[in-house]
Amino acid sequence: MTTREIFETMDYGPAPESSAEALAWIAAKGPAFGAFIDGAFAKPGETFATRNPATGAELARITQSSAEQVDKAVTAARRAFPGWSKLSGHQRARHLYALARLLQKHARLFAVLESLDNGKPIREARDIDVPLAQRHFYYHAGLAQLLDDEMPGHAPLGVCGQVIPWNFPLLMLSWKIAPALAAGNTVVLKPAEYTSLTALLFADICREAGLPKGVVNIVTGDGRTGEALTTHPDVNKVAFTGSTEVGRRIRQATAGSGKSLTLELGGKSPYIVFDDADIDSAIEGLVDAIWFNQGQVCCAGSRLLVQEGIAADFHARLKARMDKLRLGDPLDKSIDVGAVVDPVQHATITRLVDRNTEGETYRAATPVPEQGCFYPPTLITGLSPAAPLMQEEIFGPVLVSTTFRTPSEAVEIANNTRYGLAATVWTENLNLALDVAPKLAAGVVWVNATNLFDAAAPFGGVRESGFGREGGWEGLLAYLEPALKTKPLKPADPVPAPDRPDAPGLDRTAKMYVGGKQARPDGGYSQPVWSAKGRLLGHMGLGNRKDIRNAVEAARGAAAWARTTGHLRAQILYYIGENLSARSAEFAARIRDLTGVNAKTAEAEVDVAIDRLFTYAAWADKFDGTAKSVPIRGIALAMTEPVGVIGALAPDDAPLLGALSVIAPAIAMGNRIVLVPSYAAPLAATDLYQVLDTSDLPGGVVNIVTGDPADLAEPLASHMDVDAIWAFTPHVSAEAVERASASNLKRSWVHDGHGIDWMGKSGEGRRFLQAATEIKTIWVPYGE
Ligand code: NAI
Repeated sequence: MTTREIFETMDYGPAPESSAEALAWIAAKGPAFGAFIDGAFAKPGETFATRNPATGAELARITQSSAEQVDKAVTAARRAFPGWSKLSGHQRARHLYALARLLQKHARLFAVLESLDNGKPIREARDIDVPLAQRHFYYHAGLAQLLDDEMPGHAPLGVCGQVIPWNFPLLMLSWKIAPALAAGNTVVLKPAEYTSLTALLFADICREAGLPKGVVNIVTGDGRTGEALTTHPDVNKVAFTGSTEVGRRIRQATAGSGKSLTLELGGKSPYIVFDDADIDSAIEGLVDAIWFNQGQVCCAGSRLLVQEGIAADFHARLKARMDKLRLGDPLDKSIDVGAVVDPVQHATITRLVDRNTEGETYRAATPVPEQGCFYPPTLITGLSPAAPLMQEEIFGPVLVSTTFRTPSEAVEIANNTRYGLAATVWTENLNLALDVAPKLAAGVVWVNATNLFDAAAPFGGVRESGFGREGGWEGLLAYLEPALKTKPLKPADPVPAPDRPDAPGLDRTAKMYVGGKQARPDGGYSQPVWSAKGRLLGHMGLGNRKDIRNAVEAARGAAAWARTTGHLRAQILYYIGENLSARSAEFAARIRDLTGVNAKTAEAEVDVAIDRLFTYAAWADKFDGTAKSVPIRGIALAMTEPVGVIGALAPDDAPLLGALSVIAPAIAMGNRIVLVPSYAAPLAATDLYQVLDTSDLPGGVVNIVTGDPADLAEPLASHMDVDAIWAFTPHVSAEAVERASASNLKRSWVHDGHGIDWMGKSGEGRRFLQAATEIKTIWVPYGE
């Protein structure tokens, strides 16, 4: 026999991991589990079975927590909040460190329990999920330690309601709980109904670690429990990971509640292979991209884009590799692909694949166990870009593939999705990789690697993949709020027509400002604007849905602004400031007329507006990204990118300053903006047209639509091509804006009934810059 023949006949022997300790833990603590509230396990209530998806065997019974139990948990978290938030950063760091240590000490138990409950290969639970969960607690112990010095003036939000999915039960728990606790919040977390066991084990170690009662509460149950938690009036922050559909529902259900919200949702992430890639590595990467965790990964590289010239060879090699993947008992250390989490998910995957009639479907030749939720690694080629399987998240071990010819075509296909979670690029050409990475609509980009995660590296999506980041200082921010000076928010209405109007013959009608040109209102309606003393100052156009559409289209058309340098944007902002300064007396007089303030106040407003333009000119080339040191052979670059098109409803007070306080940070960071100015005093903003025209600002970067914010808010907030909505006017309710923003899950910043002090320092700075930017984390090979 030749060596080659020996290799061909050799097979892996089974290497089973024992489930005895995990089953003993279930028997000892269960087998029926109640929720974990205020430091103790409650008595089990109405229960349902949690099963091992590889065998169908019942593992334990889990309580379907009622709204009343959720309320108890939230009350416990509220009670614990003052004590926990008052601890020093160091004291909280010690608690997080203790949890990290216990996660290490019980690592095997966690890994086996996770594998039993979820069906994932023990190799993955042991080598990826559990170590990353530990790392998360260690890292956040560090953030807690440094928080007081590094982020002064920030306060925790309060009680966090956190809902997580079943694909990485312990890891997602860590991503949620570690930053919340580090920042000084308390938590009620709901694990997914299929996979509650490691969360319950975690609750157990919270007791062992001596965590104060009520700081962490775990309520088990299905979506009904999740709904009760996310809509509970005493929850200050909701953090959700799961499907886009449920994320959208949560956005709607929490609209106007004042709850802070982060959503980490689905994806259909592209995996791009250029013809100069190291093919073998790209194929191994693909195994990790789509067959890791049976493809049940939100950022799975589920859409393969391979350059045409190498496609045939690549697919042939891929199929050969697929045939070698071993499917089977998740507790066997030598298997590659385990069981899908539940028969429901198995049925969904089967239905999606069976419904497809296009292209060619290849199933790995590897044997599939007859019992249990096993689905073979599958590759589907030859689909058209609009085919449902090219667009929909399958969330299983199914890869779809298409080809491209040029890098720009690759980018176009990659971005042809409503999602924007992650993307992978394989090429040996550094220039090409770093040229393509910024063009991809994704929150995370991996270069010559895939599915890398670390506590230091921000993770999260754009578009309908949700908003907010987890990991790093950036992730911590989502659990903190800046302590700001605010004032009561009072709507200012347009001055009503006086009994004896003082209407000098010269009438000026302010038009809309769209694409750098003045445009008449589509509806043909306008409304007189009276001074506080009853003098006719001019007319404002009453914008409608069509005007908003035109303005958004113009803003989209000005996409080149996003690619300008910070230096250029700074120059233009300085220039706007300079031109405003040259006309400051005129603007001050206008403010006086419009609002009735005295000359000194009006002049002060113009001065602060010029100062503010200088502030954002200064920031334009200084709000930099950071390089994160991650414990692998690489570096994660957390780059700040513009959000895109921002729709903004300016505040009523300080009509010039309010408008510029919103415009300036948006355009400084490379966004385009559609602004609805103050309803009561729109002419201070419409006078800006000439200033903008003479300041070298390209048309379409700033667009202004005047009118009643109550009419314009909905079309702006629901527009599918608007990426973020800011609403500072009390003329619209936070609820209406946030509800409308659910259309494409745009990020929203909406007044909570309090007004920003625009004249003060609260009216500018990092908070605005953060809202105007998105973090893109680009992982690149680096060092040894
Ligand atoms: P799901 O989004 O329904 O479940 C995630 C979590 O949300 C679970 O804990 C669930 O109990 C909870 N939940 C459900 N309805 C809720 C509501 N109205 N309010 C609050 N919480 C609620 O996901 P599901 O149904 O388990 O999976 C369906 C599909 O979702 C998958 O096939 C996959 O495409 C996608 N998905 C994506 C995930 C991701 O990480 N991006 C994770 C899980 C699922």
